[in-house]
Amino acid sequence: MIYMTKQQLYRKYAHYYDLIYEKMDLEKESDFIKWAVLKHKTSTGNELLDMACGTGRHSSMLKDSFEILGADINQDMLKIAREKLSDVEFIEADMKDLDLKREFDVIICMFSAMNYNHTREEFEKTIENFYNHLHAGGVLIFDLGINQENWIEGLVSVDTVINDEVKLARICQSHLENGIFNANFVFLVKENGKLDFDIDQHKLGVFHIEEVINSLIKIGFQNFIYSDFNKDEWNILSGERPIFVAVK
Ligand SMILES: C[S@@+](CC[C@H](N)C(=O)[O-])C[C@H]1O[C@@H](n2cnc3c(N)ncnc32)[C@H](O)[C@@H]1O
Repeated sequence: MIYMTKQQLYRKYAHYYDLIYEKMDLEKESDFIKWAVLKHKTSTGNELLDMACGTGRHSSMLKDSFEILGADINQDMLKIAREKLSDVEFIEADMKDLDLKREFDVIICMFSAMNYNHTREEFEKTIENFYNHLHAGGVLIFDLGINQENWIEGLVSVDTVINDEVKLARICQSHLENGIFNANFVFLVKENGKLDFDIDQHKLGVFHIEEVINSLIKIGFQNFIYSDFNKDEWNILSGERPIFVAVK
């Protein structure tokens, strides 16, 4: 078993992260966030915490509409975010013991970052931390792309990037054990004529949507669930990614 510290997580992967996900419709996601904030937020300010911000993809789309603080546990991801967005402040912070001594109007935690909470207790603690960092009337927005309702066991996913500089394949197979997905991303990379191989390990908690709703209610949020960054209500039968908009 390879032991990875939090600093090693995303070490290699950070470098390729934006390339792997460049096909994602960030504009649609960011438009949805702006729409949901307008619809649900009643606090008066404009301060947004991009928690588990990664390389700052959402911050880059939202920085003209909000005063943003980006936060992530991983220095390699933060380094890329800072290089891309010199006008946004990024700090190292862990969502599981967040204590920034300030409140925001909006907190976003995007692209399955909530799955880095491994147990229901951790998930609830993080939700409570977010609640404590929001003004009354502020909103928390997160997606839960990986959940018990849409889980497919044994599914092999292959993501590829092919351009003049890099040829990359990232391979992973889904396997759930006691509510945990120990995701081993196998990387095969050819860059500058050199071949490389690496394994990135990610431990992800996979939750039932109902548990998530119950946790949000328990902490004190009023909840709205939308379907995959569309403005329609989420429906369990759709298989779509649920997007939570939780109002304090
Ligand atoms: C799938 S990436 C999503 C990044 C970004 N939100 C996006 O949409 O591209 C998950 C991020 O969560 C961060 N992360 C994992 N555990 C965390 C924790 N406990 N506190 C803060 N960030 C964490 C990782 O370092 C990584 O940048």
